[in-house]
Amino acid sequence: MPTKIILDCDPGHDDAIAMLLAWGNPDIDLVGVTTVMGNQTIDKVTRNALSVARVAGMTGVPFARGAHRPLVRQAEVAASIHGASGLDGPVLPEPTLELDPRHAVDFIIDTIMGAEAGEITLVPTGALTNIALAVRKEPRIVPRVKQVVLMGGGVNVGNWSATSEFNIVIDPEAAHIVFNEPWPLTMVGLDLTHEALATPSIVAAIAAVGTAPARFVGELLAFFGETYREQQGFEHPPVHDPCAVAFVIDPTVMEVTRVPLNIELTGTLTLGMTVADFRAAAPDTCTTHVARRLDHTKFWALVVDALERIGDPEHA
Ligand code: BDR
Ligand code: CA
Repeated sequence: MPTKIILDCDPGHDDAIAMLLAWGNPDIDLVGVTTVMGNQTIDKVTRNALSVARVAGMTGVPFARGAHRPLVRQAEVAASIHGASGLDGPVLPEPTLELDPRHAVDFIIDTIMGAEAGEITLVPTGALTNIALAVRKEPRIVPRVKQVVLMGGGVNVGNWSATSEFNIVIDPEAAHIVFNEPWPLTMVGLDLTHEALATPSIVAAIAAVGTAPARFVGELLAFFGETYREQQGFEHPPVHDPCAVAFVIDPTVMEVTRVPLNIELTGTLTLGMTVADFRAAAPDTCTTHVARRLDHTKFWALVVDALERIGDPEHA
């Protein structure tokens, strides 16, 4: 049986690739896509999500728009990495899907409460605002969720400050809520995703798929590669968000360690740091995990395979 996931995202170049992987992989049942502000405003990322849906020929997947700002802090976007649209590079087709009328938070709650306990996996690849709001509005979702596999954070590595990663630091209070609930949570952070580099041979393998969605990914990677080179000094761009989806598909694609994790909320230099306590064996009550060491070949094979399965929907 494919795993049912809700992808909560802020597309975003790597979020778009996470959507394509989730849609194209047969072991995933994408039961909804929800959006959250982050890489750009909520209007822009929601439109981007719908444009990606059109590129991939997605049908039967509800899309719901979520939080327009963090719980406590002012909204901060990542135009320096993702451009003015949030998805600069390719031409973005006019969306054809209608949004679900519900707010993302209500969509998440309804979907989890309406499913069997243990059926739904949450895959957040943006700020954790929607998930935190859903937990506060309907705490009964927590024991019903199979697991949370999120892209965010990192152990002793940051990208938006010396210590902190973008998705966590733009809404650290939301992250604090989500990391402190007793559900199984895997943090697919920068330790792992900085290994998910789109090297020239990966870019060539994607181009060889030869379809419109594969060309779309090629254009995304070209723009993302350029901003990552200029802004973060990477030779090849780390493609973060699909790593979280890949872990749901095949947990052997990375190594995962159970360790207590928490979010720094008061540090003047360390706000939003994901603090991992490796001092001793994790206590039995610990439900948080950190992912490290990616199987690069296996990961990118999943992405290429998903693109091959998606084919050329506009010309089908
Ligand atoms: C994360 O931040 C966003 O810009 C990306 O989409 C990814 O989710 C990486 O720090
Ligand atoms: Ca993202």
